[in-house]
Amino acid sequence: MRLYIPVATGIEASVKRELSRLGYGEAPAIRGRIALEGGWEDVARLNLRLRAGERVLLGMGEFPAPTFDDLFAGVRALPWEEFLTPHARILIDGKSFQSRLMAIKAAGGVVKKAILTRLKEHGAPQFDEKGERAIVGVSIFGDVATVTLDTSGDGLHKRGYRVLTYDAPLRETTAAAIVEDSFYGRERVFCDPFCGSGTLAIEAALYARNIAPGAMRTFDFTAWKCAPPVLAREREAAKEEVFRGELAPIFAGDISPRAISVAKEHAMRAGVAGDIRFSLADAGDFTSVEKYGVLAANPPYGERLGEKRELSSLYKKFSRAFHALPAWSAYVITAYPEFERIFGRATRRRILYNANIRCGLYFYFGEKPKEGDKR
Ligand SMILES: C[S@@+](CC[C@H](N)C(=O)[O-])C[C@H]1O[C@@H](n2cnc3c(N)ncnc32)[C@H](O)[C@@H]1O
Repeated sequence: MRLYIPVATGIEASVKRELSRLGYGEAPAIRGRIALEGGWEDVARLNLRLRAGERVLLGMGEFPAPTFDDLFAGVRALPWEEFLTPHARILIDGKSFQSRLMAIKAAGGVVKKAILTRLKEHGAPQFDEKGERAIVGVSIFGDVATVTLDTSGDGLHKRGYRVLTYDAPLRETTAAAIVEDSFYGRERVFCDPFCGSGTLAIEAALYARNIAPGAMRTFDFTAWKCAPPVLAREREAAKEEVFRGELAPIFAGDISPRAISVAKEHAMRAGVAGDIRFSLADAGDFTSVEKYGVLAANPPYGERLGEKRELSSLYKKFSRAFHALPAWSAYVITAYPEFERIFGRATRRRILYNANIRCGLYFYFGEKPKEGDKR
């Protein structure tokens, strides 16, 4: 089966790296997604284990669709009856680029009609849409339609641990991509001194413990007719691979008592509360004698007038604290435009979007441990 992993702008390299670590080779990201071949075990495995990828889509077919008639015929020719019952709740997610069929809403209607026609031709009596959810993707590029079924359902950033609301949280998949791209490993100290609801520290702990981020949730494909019951076995296999040894300390701090209580609750739900040391503290006071640590942070960037001066002194203090740490690396995601002027020129930078806000991700690579150095 052909599978596609959609990836958000700026985190393509992290998803490629994690796919390669999971044994799926080195596929390029084309038009915002990475294609690979796999079976139902891979569908289960990828849904459970991907940290930075957004979803796992199953490729149903690809065909020329310069007109609505071609789109209807192409979709109707696909074996929907093998996947869906007459009760399926079909939702259409459409996109079109550089194609004649740009009226994507109308194209979505055509796709749904073609699926229902096909199901009717294969014996479905009537449709009540009270059953399993089926998110059908239609992406038309250069007059060629790619039709997919979303095996994940809810996006993979929904791990299940973030139950409380908090201002400006980082998307879990973005936090995981930052951890994936960093020098972090379970033998290094990690700190997020602006932890908010705890996302970066929790994703670091899940990574260090090799806990599958999807372990606590379910996925749409399990309700489809033809999907074999592979998820339970893959869940068990993932449990066996959890690292149960000692980790170097993971610190999470924030100046807000509410942030600390939200982050603790989330860490507890993610099963990593015992791995994170929380403290009510000012980020500018963070210090450590440990070498080669990893500082990952998503400081406030202030949308309101009048915050600018406050922010400048906050960033200056944070910069002094980081530059005093021995051989640490820093990974900072912020939309604050003055960031590099205050913190220093980054070794590398990337553009990301968090909640539709254009942010920079700034990398400051510290020294690597010398032979014989513990951390
Ligand atoms: C953008 S939010 C971080 C959101 C977080 N990444 C998450 O996923 O929920 C910024 C956080 O910085 C905290 N903060 C502001 N000034 C601080 C300071 N001087 N020291 C520590 N934390 C501070 C705020 O309370 C807020 O929780």
